[in-house]
Amino acid sequence: MKSQIEQKHSIFFGNTGYDKLRELITIKKYDKILIFSDSNTEKNCLPNFQDQLNINDLQKNTEIKNKLYHYKVKPGEVSKNLDESKKIIEFLILNGFKRNSLIINLGGGLITDLGGFIASIYLRGIEFVNVPTSLLGMVDASIGGKTGVDLNNLKNIIGSFNNANLILIDTSFLSTLSERQMRSGFSEMIKHSLIDSRNHWEKIKVVNDCSDINEKIIYNSIKTKIDIVESDPKESGIRKFLNYGHTLGHAIESYFLGTKKEILHGEAILIGLILESFLSHKILDLEIKDVLEIKDFIMKFSKKISFDQDDIENIIKLLKFDKKNKSNKAQFVLLEDIGKPSFNNESSFVEIKDAFEFYRL
Ligand SMILES: NC(=O)c1ccc[n+]([C@@H]2O[C@H](COP(=O)([O-])OP(=O)(O)OC[C@H]3O[C@@H](n4cnc5c(N)ncnc54)[C@H](O)[C@@H]3O)[C@@H](O)[C@H]2O)c1
Repeated sequence: MKSQIEQKHSIFFGNTGYDKLRELITIKKYDKILIFSDSNTEKNCLPNFQDQLNINDLQKNTEIKNKLYHYKVKPGEVSKNLDESKKIIEFLILNGFKRNSLIINLGGGLITDLGGFIASIYLRGIEFVNVPTSLLGMVDASIGGKTGVDLNNLKNIIGSFNNANLILIDTSFLSTLSERQMRSGFSEMIKHSLIDSRNHWEKIKVVNDCSDINEKIIYNSIKTKIDIVESDPKESGIRKFLNYGHTLGHAIESYFLGTKKEILHGEAILIGLILESFLSHKILDLEIKDVLEIKDFIMKFSKKISFDQDDIENIIKLLKFDKKNKSNKAQFVLLEDIGKPSFNNESSFVEIKDAFEFYRL
């Protein structure tokens, strides 16, 4: 089964991934290679990556000696912008990167989004490889061809659809990822299971803590995203299913941004998944026993946050309400059943407030 996504989508796991990357570098005879990382992944992942790739041998055999460069940025969203892109592009120009050069993105979603974006605009596009090192990167950000940077407060407002030549999943990188970042990435895996099938959800439910997250369930998660993206690469239809939990999740994330209560993206999505599962029950009759089970499961990975009435009203204001929609209802991806998502569902202010009450109890 694994070989299916390996061959078709060039997503390779573990040792096979390193073999394929070595093969790619040997066959393509890239004139320059940039390994792009942030300072955390430089420290925690670069030495291991170079060992696994057997870079010394590769240099001897392929004459890539002196052609290998490394560039690192500060960790975090602070680096995901046009100013930083300009600096990296200047580095590429200064070092003579050409059309036949390669960028290897070694990092979380920040690095694969930013490095993929640069690769798609430098010289109108050069090849790139994603080596995701965070859980969120492995199951979500590095997969599906979306690249981009932020502008002012607008996340991913500039970018492109551009697929990596190869994606290498090495789950051993997760050993240095913090528990908090693991839980954040796990939110997307929960989401994938809920929109995919009851069988997938059953497999996710056996995870008791983050140490149970293994290559097999990471594979299942990647497969779900790949299947959806393949049917709708430009998000005109079913790719919207991937927004399950994200309408309210994003609003919560934005609301706390820059405050003492600021939370990670995935932490906001965990709450969004509980709220939108409740809305699924109210609006599409998802069975209440499923909603309760989803909430109980998610609360094992999530710290309860208290929302007062002001918070809730301000979060609701942040939802993008359709101006043409006179009934003043927000649009959601919701579940009729586990594994049966649908998009363009409407929900009222009152229903959303009830969902927050359900979360509070
Ligand atoms: N393109 C897409 O489809 C897509 C999808 C989801 C999210 N994203 C983007 O991804 C980004 C979030 O991704 P993320 O959560 O991976 O963030 P991130 O890349 O900022 O990584 C989170 C933190 O973990 C550190 N880290 C990463 N791997 C590590 C490792 N193995 N050991 C130790 N530390 C490590 C990073 O340095 C960083 O401090 C956002 O910018 C988001 O917009 C993109």
